[in-house]
Amino acid sequence: MVPTTRMEDKIYIISGTNREEAVSLAVSHIYKNEFKLLGMEAEIIDLRDLPDNYLAAALYENAGTHQGMVDMRQKMKEGQKFLFVVPEYNGSFPGVLKAFIDGLKFPETFTNKKCALVGVSSGVQGGALALSHLTDILNYCGTHVLARKVRLAEIGKNMKEGLITNKLYNQLINWQINEFLEF
Ligand SMILES: Cc1cc2nc3c(=O)[nH]c(=O)nc-3n(C[C@H](O)[C@H](O)[C@H](O)COP(=O)(O)O)c2cc1C
Repeated sequence: MVPTTRMEDKIYIISGTNREEAVSLAVSHIYKNEFKLLGMEAEIIDLRDLPDNYLAAALYENAGTHQGMVDMRQKMKEGQKFLFVVPEYNGSFPGVLKAFIDGLKFPETFTNKKCALVGVSSGVQGGALALSHLTDILNYCGTHVLARKVRLAEIGKNMKEGLITNKLYNQLINWQINEFLEF
């Protein structure tokens, strides 16, 4: 089937944590490369780039005014398709990801946008609950979430030198990407 994503529609990949050395960032790069192989442009939004004083200076009445956040906020407003790479933290998604979402322009950032979700965990769930929690929030905000979600459980055993070593995981990633481009 011919993908409905046009070449000019850049895909934004949100690496869902600001933790240094995050595996989620490595997974984001894997997706970026896969999109590139298919001729699609993708850019990573790395939550490590949030301003250090984000919580105090870039939320609520300050939303949109903090110089360090203006660029990311604009990209999220203009982007039409997002892929969230979501690490599992304490049975859900990271608080910093919710804080990031709370700092975005509502509803323009979300209304009728489309996204796909990938969970990453060191345990056996692959972020199943994290993806479910995030789906609720994105749907509430008006964003459509691709039903095909990838859960990369026990990531420590299934990744080496920045590459996924599990054959099934690689198949699921390709399957999800193809569905996302048609979504
Ligand atoms: C604050 C915190 C909480 C975590 N909670 C969980 C958890 O509930 N279940 C789990 O399987 N792994 C948990 N982990 C491990 C992450 O899933 C693991 O680090 C994985 O690589 C994805 O996170 P990363 O992108 O930060 O590397 C936690 C890690 C952190 C930093």
